[in-house]
Amino acid sequence: MENRPQWGTRAGFILAAVGSAVGLGNIWRFPGVAYENGGGAFFIPYLFALLTAGIPLLILEFTIGHKYRGSAPLSYARASKGSEWIGWWQVAISFVISTYYAVIIAWAMAYAYFSISLKWNEGDDTVSFLVGNYLQTGEAGAVGSIVPGVFIPLLIVWAVTLGVLFAGVKKGIELANKIMIPLLVVLFLIIVVRAVTLDGAMDGLNAFFSPNWDLIADPSVWVAAYGQIFFSLSIAFAIMITYASYLPKKSDITNNAFITGFANSSVELLAGFGVFAALGFLAAQNGIAFSELGETYSFTGVILAFAVFPEIINQFPILNEVFGVLFFACLVLAGLSSLISIVETFVAGIQDKFNVSRSKAVLFGGGLSAVISVLFATQGGLNFLDVADEWINQFGIALVGLVEVIFFAWIAKQLTPLQQYANEVSDIKLGLWWKVSLGLLTPVVLGYMMYGKIKQRIVEGYGGYEVDFLFNFGWSVALGAILFGVLFANLKWRNQVDAMVVKKKEVS
Ligand code: PFF
Repeated sequence: MENRPQWGTRAGFILAAVGSAVGLGNIWRFPGVAYENGGGAFFIPYLFALLTAGIPLLILEFTIGHKYRGSAPLSYARASKGSEWIGWWQVAISFVISTYYAVIIAWAMAYAYFSISLKWNEGDDTVSFLVGNYLQTGEAGAVGSIVPGVFIPLLIVWAVTLGVLFAGVKKGIELANKIMIPLLVVLFLIIVVRAVTLDGAMDGLNAFFSPNWDLIADPSVWVAAYGQIFFSLSIAFAIMITYASYLPKKSDITNNAFITGFANSSVELLAGFGVFAALGFLAAQNGIAFSELGETYSFTGVILAFAVFPEIINQFPILNEVFGVLFFACLVLAGLSSLISIVETFVAGIQDKFNVSRSKAVLFGGGLSAVISVLFATQGGLNFLDVADEWINQFGIALVGLVEVIFFAWIAKQLTPLQQYANEVSDIKLGLWWKVSLGLLTPVVLGYMMYGKIKQRIVEGYGGYEVDFLFNFGWSVALGAILFGVLFANLKWRNQVDAMVVKKKEVS
């Protein structure tokens, strides 16, 4: 335990945490979610969720990692007897996410390359180029063959990710983020500044910010705000616990969490400017009102990034190719720094539990995720990805987040000791706000959210897929993660020091 690696600098830790938080969720998810859920008015539920759930949970995870100095499973085991399975459950969810997140980064890499020749114009339109020409998507449920255009960049994604992880915490993860995050910020600023100076940009921004106050009383808007904050801050992914376990003893916790939270939201807001300015430009180019644009185009997710943006890039007044490369490079950078953090969760878990070297843990853990990710590089990839993503987010992340807060607040009753612990080392002292947020507000809102979502998915299904397909790639993946958690928690600790700690907990 004494040999645990450490971050070299405070900035290194913050950049790594921000690198994890700033991901595809910021760029392609936030702007559309905000727009659909009240535009300017969405900022109220969003800020509320940030301040009563996002940052409090981030502080909780930083404190747990710092205090118990272990991967998520080890930290849970040390925090309270019988809770190790929650840590493995989170690790399992992260494992699943890593398998398809890597593939999306591979698409972005391919599209950065396609930008050079605006290759997407070879299709009938940009959507059919994506789904047909590029991904060669088949029927839902059929695997089909491997798509080389995805497979090759996927190899590069894994080579970089595993290479960084092999190099360790300080020389790998910290260094990579010190390069990637400033670069991302600069490239992203260039794009946003260009986007807001395009013709029609103001119409897009007006649409984005104009508040629809009627929606604020709608519970689904609040649910969307919480969902966005959770995903965006990488909370309940086991990531922040793992990263905080590499903090030196004398480190601030609460201030770091505020910096990470606000930095992440700033990038999100910046993405909102960029995306909606660009959409306003697209509406102007097509000679239609902004409100009509939504009927033809999706404002979030895969379609926004890989079909709508190519169209915007086509219409750029000058240097289309350059902006194409810049945009997709941003997706690659944002994605890679998040992928690195998520793979580190199971690398650290394996190392702690089985007492193996970092290299072996990277090889087996990261290697296994890489092998499984090939499933998403097949002709069936897009459909698998769509369903796995929906389920693992809703019934993985959000559910395990709910279990995490209930566990620490109500079962292990750890809020008071953790608060004292954090206050001792931090600038900003935690008070009633933190306890009420975690003990009361977050469990109630998340519990309500979960109930509604489970009901909705059972009654309505999802995206027109067959029930069998949803069962195989949705429900069974989400339930499998829990099962995995319980199974792994029952394996013996190979690491003597940790085994002792866990045993002692069981006896006391
Ligand atoms: N905060 C990340 C995002 O916004 O994309 C969430 C995340 C997803 C982190 C996938 C890591 C990851 F591999």
